[in-house]
Amino acid sequence: MKDTTIIHDEILRLKKDRQAIILAHNYQTADIQDIADMTGDSLELSRAAATMEGEIIVFCGVDFMAETAAIISPEKTVLLPARDACCPMAEMITAEELKLVKSRHPEAAVVCYVNTTAEVKAESDICCTSSNAVKVVNSLKEDRIIFVPDRNLGLYTQRFTKKEILPWEGFCIVHDRINPDQVRETRSLHPDAIILAHPECRPEVIDLADHVASTSGIIRYVCESLEKEFIIGTEMGILHRIKKECPTKKCYPLSPAAICTNMKKTDLTKVRNALVTLQPRITVPEEIARRARSAIERMLAV
Ligand code: 13P
Ligand code: SF4
Repeated sequence: MKDTTIIHDEILRLKKDRQAIILAHNYQTADIQDIADMTGDSLELSRAAATMEGEIIVFCGVDFMAETAAIISPEKTVLLPARDACCPMAEMITAEELKLVKSRHPEAAVVCYVNTTAEVKAESDICCTSSNAVKVVNSLKEDRIIFVPDRNLGLYTQRFTKKEILPWEGFCIVHDRINPDQVRETRSLHPDAIILAHPECRPEVIDLADHVASTSGIIRYVCESLEKEFIIGTEMGILHRIKKECPTKKCYPLSPAAICTNMKKTDLTKVRNALVTLQPRITVPEEIARRARSAIERMLAV
């Protein structure tokens, strides 16, 4: 306990000395969320990385998030305290595989979820996140869309567009495991609760949800709703922010096993060490970054 307080204070001191900003995803552990300058969803964090003042960004999340920050702010030092924190979904498609799909559908536009490697972004026309996928797809002139890598987000987006979506077969190992029986069981335990789900969930789960949104969208919905009880269909880390921002609401997890182990790899010691050593630093070769940047900037402009 005492050690934690010392590390906590050290981080605050180093952060000030280094003029660093700490960004944390909504799935990070409570102590990381509490020490961050900002906690948010992928889109909010990308925007913050592009616009916030500070020479150094400490990205408490997974590798594609820090990579995205490094691509849009190449002049800044982007640190990923847990170097091994990755997103298995982002590993489910390579640039070579995407090139092959593109050659089969040369008339189609490529929309890549931000959960991708820089190389895959570089092969894409535009990026999207869970909060703007529908808007991004509908902003394009092409009628066919190659959507990578999340099959579930692609199928969810298909519900709101006349365009034809060709989804890649990737998935989030945390959300894809949530099944409709869990929704029915949790609903029977809390019949008055509103069911909220993340679009990375399977279509059968989405069908049973009352509202579908990104992580920050879910938090906003709970805080702004007049209802009192909610079933939360996403990763467990989100419950900390909900409890902090709207403590009177009752929230029940749809699946207590929905824990992204990669998001939990960051701890206070690693954040402190990153601020001391300015390592591990994330950089992207300029030739890839240049092409990936255009896909990200196009998304930010939508
Ligand atoms: P959002 O926070 O953008 O909804 O994304 C969820 C996620 O799984 C990030 O990896
Ligand atoms: Fe990747 Fe899923 Fe973890 Fe998000 S929750 S980082 S999509 S594995």
